Formats: sequence, structure tokens, C-alpha cells
Amino acid sequence: MSKIIIIGTQWGDEGKGKIVDLLAEHADHVVRFQGGNNAGHTMVVEGEQFISHLVPSGILQGKACYIGNGVVVDPEVLIEEIDYLVGKGVDIGPDKLRISERAQLIMPYHKKIDHARELMKGDKKIGTTGRGIGPCYEDKASRRGLRFIDLLDREDFNEKVKAIVKEKNFYLEKYHSADTIDAEEIISQYDKFAERLAPYVTNVSVNLYKAIKNDEHVLFEGAQGTHLDIDHGTYPYVTSSNTVSGNACGGAGIGPKEITDVIGIVKAYTTRVGAGPFPTELFDEVGDRIQKKGAEFGATTGRKRRCGWLDMVILRNSVRLNSLTGLVITKLDVLDGLETIDICTGYEYKGERIEDFPANLKVLAECKPIYETHPGWSEDTSVIRNYEDLPENTKSYLKRVEELAETPVDIVSVGPGREETIILKKHFH
Ligand code: GDP
Ligand code: IMO
Ligand code: MG
Repeated sequence: MSKIIIIGTQWGDEGKGKIVDLLAEHADHVVRFQGGNNAGHTMVVEGEQFISHLVPSGILQGKACYIGNGVVVDPEVLIEEIDYLVGKGVDIGPDKLRISERAQLIMPYHKKIDHARELMKGDKKIGTTGRGIGPCYEDKASRRGLRFIDLLDREDFNEKVKAIVKEKNFYLEKYHSADTIDAEEIISQYDKFAERLAPYVTNVSVNLYKAIKNDEHVLFEGAQGTHLDIDHGTYPYVTSSNTVSGNACGGAGIGPKEITDVIGIVKAYTTRVGAGPFPTELFDEVGDRIQKKGAEFGATTGRKRRCGWLDMVILRNSVRLNSLTGLVITKLDVLDGLETIDICTGYEYKGERIEDFPANLKVLAECKPIYETHPGWSEDTSVIRNYEDLPENTKSYLKRVEELAETPVDIVSVGPGREETIILKKHFH
């Protein structure tokens, strides 16, 4: 039985949502294990678009979905998302969605602090999604966080909120000259959230353990991407969780021996939202063309995504950091019609070739991509469903990516729709 982790190999928005939805057809359970509603995962089914920020992308396939202990949850956003999905006819009762009692709650002060910090940083800002993700993980690490299990104990929760709000207000007012928050308002707001979400709260680890013992298929849905990982990404221009595959175990509550495959989602080019280094970023009309054809706007914040060529230094980094067993190349169709396509195979730093992704951002800023130029193709690949039917130049491009990554391509995506896909290897069979 397969237990497969899906992760982003670049800086997020690789098309994880589409691929999780696709693979979920043959899975039994789908689990989010980190991040929060900074994620925006898009699925397109029979022409209809769905965007999820917290609910796992397996929900459209009617699978049992879980929000693991490693996720930070804004209950207001989760309720809105449940209502939005129900409004679109999706079945999402407590038998379909389960939330870990250990998952941390994003509180109103987390969002306020996120905004205040970004404002204070000015042009040095990280460009966060403003969803309170960093401040929530900070409170988790400093053992001041509130979890779903706390939310269910109303009296205890209220006492804790009152104590925390005192400290947060001091910080907001004295350090940021920002508006303060009212503990009583939070208490009455979270009262309603508790009532609404209580039926969904459970011990996700125990649920998954039973599923695994029962020989059922489990899919783990990563959010963000490897280079936004708090340890391995372009720190401090990263998110506040470990986005690498290793964290699927910690963030869901299972052991590493259970995992059978790790699939890395790779956009056929690279994008990034928010600030931070991006060696292969394009500032010319090719970058503009990719941005427009790829409709590269953030699914969460609507910001224009920065675009550039595929970078094998970061892809090889992802192969190693995540133990990737296979790749999914997405948005290949966006490259249709380009005369030539570049792949970055290494960086040049002070006249020397670098193969490994540097930790020092000053070094990274001086790295110049070394490109290999490939002939493009003029055909419309979005209508192709079999690998053999792809243009020869497209196949050579894919072969070269496989070769440089030393990892096989399992799936190629040629459009946002579930069916706009070329399957080379079947999963969950
Ligand atoms: P995620 O965060 O990794 O789930 O990715 P997003 O949903 O934020 O961004 C990916 C965008 O590309 C979404 O708008 C998808 O509908 C779209 N998309 C996914 N795969 C393909 C593809 O193969 N071709 C095209 N043209 N669009 C795709
Ligand atoms: P999905 O799951 C792309 C980026 C933000 C910012 C940095 C820190 O859709 O791929 P945060 O709000 O997490 O503190 O912001 O991380 N970021 C993402 N970029 N896709 C995402 O998620 C992202 N989630 C966070 O833009 O640069
Ligand atoms: Mg996204």
C-alpha cells in the first residue's frame, strides 16, 4: 500500500493542488501537514475552478481529508472555506474532514503582528501573505500557542486568551504603535468557531495509524516549496515551517518507515512571490510572456509572480533534501511557442562553477546562472495526452531534466484541468 508525499520543489505554486487532486482519485486519505492559509492550491474540474487554502485538495475526489498537527489554522478562514466548498456542492462533513486536536490556532493578534512587522521592515520586508503564519509558529515554538484542544475547553481557553492578549497588546502598542486588540471580542468570536468546528476535531495520528494498519493508501499534501523551507530555503525570505518531505511525518503524526514515495512537483520554469533571491529571474519580454501565458498571479494574495527559467541547482537541492522518487513537470504548455528554452545547470560565482545552493544570500546574489539552451517547439502541447505524441524537442527537454535531476518524470501536466495530463507512471495501483 502506498503512502506518498507530494511537495513543491521550487518556491511554491508549482501546481501541487492539481496533482494532489489527480492522484487522490486512487488514494483513501489526504493529509495536510504544515503551513496554513498562506497556501493557495488550485484545482480545475470539468472547467470549474476551486481554490483551497486549508482543506486538503483531495476533498473534490470525496476522500477522507485531514489537517495535521503541523498545520496552523485560522478557524475563521477554515469555516469560510468549508462554506465555500459546500456552496459548490462538495461533501465536507465531519466524516470527510478531520482536524488534529494538536493543530495550532491562528489568532487575530498573529495577523496584526504579521502586518505591523512587514510595515516596519519597509523595503526589507519578506513579502509575507499577511495571514499571521510566522507569529503563530513563533508562539508554538515559545510554548504560548493555543491549539484546537484548548479551544474545546472554553473556560481554560478564555483565561489563556486574556493572559496572552495583555502581552500582545503591550508589544503592538509600545513597539509598533499599532492598534490593540480586545480579549473579550476574541473570546466571543472564538466561542462561535469552537461550536462550529468541534465535531471535526480528533486525533489525526491515531486515525492515520488505523488507516495504515488497514493497508489503505495515504497521500500527504505539502504546501509552499522546498526553497521556502525555514531551514533549507532562502532564509529569512522563507515561510515559518519545514516544507520538506521529512516534515510530513512530524506534521501528521506518523513514523518515517511508512513512506513509500516522495513526488516533487516542478514547474517547467520557475516562479516566486514575495521578496528574496531568485537567480534565474527574467526581466525581459520572455519573462513577461511566461507570466502572462502562465497566468502567474498568486492564488492567495493575487500578487504578480516573478518568473524565470528552470533552475537545476534548486531542483537537485530538492531531490536530495526530500529523497524524491519521481518528478511531476507542470505547466509545460506555457513554454509552447518559445523559440529557445534555457535550463540553468549551475551557477558561476567569482569565476568558479557552483553546483550546490549557497546558504549565504550575499553569495547567492552574486551567482550568475550558467545556461544550456534548448530548441523550443511550436506545437500546442495542451491537447496531447500521450507521451509519444509530444514534439521531439519537448521530449528531449523532458529527458534532459530527468538526466540532470537523476530522477524520473512520472507525470507531465499540460493544462490546469484534471484531464490535461500525461501519465508515465501510475501511483496507488
Ligand atoms: P500550488 O500552490 O502548488 O497548488 O499551485 P497554484 O494553484 O497556486 O498555482 C498553479 C496555477 O497553475 C493554478 O492556477 C493552476 O490551475 C495552474 N496549473 C496547474 N498545472 C498547470 C498546467 O500544467 N498548465 C497550466 N497552463 N496551468 C496549470
Ligand atoms: P503554496 O502552497 C508561494 C511565501 C510568501 C512570502 C514567504 C513568507 O500555494 O505553494 P508567509 O505568509 O508564509 O509568512 O510568507 O512565503 N509563500 C508562498 N509563496 N506559494 C505559497 O504556498 C506560499 N506560502 C507562502 O509569498 O514570500
Ligand atoms: Mg499556490
